[in-house]
Amino acid sequence: MTMTADQLRQKYLDFFVSKGHKIIPPAPLIPENDPTTLFTSSGMQPLIPYLKGKPHPMGNRLVNSQPCFRAEDIEEVGNNRHTTFFDMLGNWSLGDYFKTEQLTWIWEFFTRELNLPREKLHVTLFEGNKDVPKDGESFKIWQDIGVPKDHIHFYDATKNWWSRSGTPENMPPGEIGGPDSEIFFEFTQIKHNSKFGKKCHVNCDCGRFVEIGNSVFMQYEKQEDGTFKPLPKQNVDFGGGLERLTQAVQNSPDMFQIDIFKPLIQLIEQVTGQKYQGENRAPMRIMADHLRAAKAMIEGDLVPSNKQQGYVLRRLIRRSAVKFRQLTGKLDPNSFSGLVDEPVIVEEINKFQKSLTKGLNLIEKTDAKKINAQFAFDLFQTHGFPFEITQEILSEKGLKLDEKAFVKIKEKHQQKSRTASAGMFKGGLSDHSETTTKYHTATHLLHQAMRDVLGNHVQQSGSNITVERLRFDFAHNKALTEKEILKIEKIIKQKIEEDLLVTQKEMPYQEAIDSGVLAFFKQKYPDQVTVYSIGEYSKELCGGPHVTSTGKIGKIKIDKQKALGQGLRRLYLK
Ligand code: ALA
Repeated sequence: MTMTADQLRQKYLDFFVSKGHKIIPPAPLIPENDPTTLFTSSGMQPLIPYLKGKPHPMGNRLVNSQPCFRAEDIEEVGNNRHTTFFDMLGNWSLGDYFKTEQLTWIWEFFTRELNLPREKLHVTLFEGNKDVPKDGESFKIWQDIGVPKDHIHFYDATKNWWSRSGTPENMPPGEIGGPDSEIFFEFTQIKHNSKFGKKCHVNCDCGRFVEIGNSVFMQYEKQEDGTFKPLPKQNVDFGGGLERLTQAVQNSPDMFQIDIFKPLIQLIEQVTGQKYQGENRAPMRIMADHLRAAKAMIEGDLVPSNKQQGYVLRRLIRRSAVKFRQLTGKLDPNSFSGLVDEPVIVEEINKFQKSLTKGLNLIEKTDAKKINAQFAFDLFQTHGFPFEITQEILSEKGLKLDEKAFVKIKEKHQQKSRTASAGMFKGGLSDHSETTTKYHTATHLLHQAMRDVLGNHVQQSGSNITVERLRFDFAHNKALTEKEILKIEKIIKQKIEEDLLVTQKEMPYQEAIDSGVLAFFKQKYPDQVTVYSIGEYSKELCGGPHVTSTGKIGKIKIDKQKALGQGLRRLYLK
């Protein structure tokens, strides 16, 4: 019997527990109270404060399986190994063990626990740059482990340096990173395609070599002046995609044939009436990945919208709809009801069906000779109308669309928005801006004040903070009256004027709950937790950060409220 993805995950957790690691719960896919990033995209993301030196309540050896979403990979989906959504198996040493243990253990796990054939494994290392030396130490460790020289390869920072923002030059001040050692699995069934270069190599994009694990030696923090300062401790940050590891264990060159995806691909075949073969493969893979990602986001309480995370969700669903239409030639209002359980997806498809029709009408009304790259881009930008469809319609009329020009316009536009989104990322995760920190403490005051005024049934069900406002979702079945709003605001104002001290304490989860500390019950907590107290007024389980005393919050007011349905309401504060 081949190992399933679930069995593999369990084996990994068990293995690292046997090496003294504690299992930590996964963080939400959509980070709470974190305006610096849209999604959790790696297991290390929620651990940044600890990698920077803060002691972790669970100790120095941690392990977990973290659902991740990487929007930047959306265009890659369709090949044998890329998805936007995946589970990352991760283990960390927070200043405890380092290169020798990490490389020895991960090799032991891959070759003994997963039984991956040694001859199909290759490893890569950092060749060094002006700031950080060549990783000769890891080279020696790999050799001692028994990896032959011709299976150890050196690359530059574009391949063997890891940070959330890529190469050392791209890292903003405050961001952490370091050299890494990746492990690749060779799928010998895949023949090299010269389209990707004359000779195949481990980092070639032909699909023969697939990266299945990455040990990052997280040791540096980028400084304001562009230099790299060693972190207080040398950490290990390992990440391996569960889906890719399963691919290797099942020796399946196609990720979409592993046990996680196979049933979904079969369902897509059934609903579209098409076979998973030839040219149908890419659109079916895109549908499978995007719908799986959309489902996870919806389970994380996200709804499609035109902003931020909601927009990404909208794009995933719409792209699946386009692929469906490409495969079947049609898109009925209920095409997707046999494919997904989420009414949100079906509703979104029904809405999109209209814009798809709008785009088609616009094309029909326009003289086909006038449809150029700019026209196709405007359609794409305004109606989410995909380039491939515009191109397809034109080619039916014997006309060609300049794809290069379209790509140029799109890249120019992306560059503009990437600068915009680099702003979102400025300073890395733990460099919380002053305003968001104030809002964070204000959230705790609001939560307690609402319970005082409306009753203890009020429970925070979500919150989101940007530099402009604080959003707070809670269970309550009617609109707040003017009087209630004034009362809540008055309490918050008073607590701010009292300039109450904000303090933090580590304690066992059960002890915190028994003493009446507020918690987010939807979330799983570790055994040891951090409790933030605001004077004697509020006590909540929370990861921080907070202002040191409430006087620093300044002025804050309830700006608007709305109903979310199902007994939930939302407040905005400014
Ligand atoms: N944080 C590293 C990665 O995402 C392990 O590849």
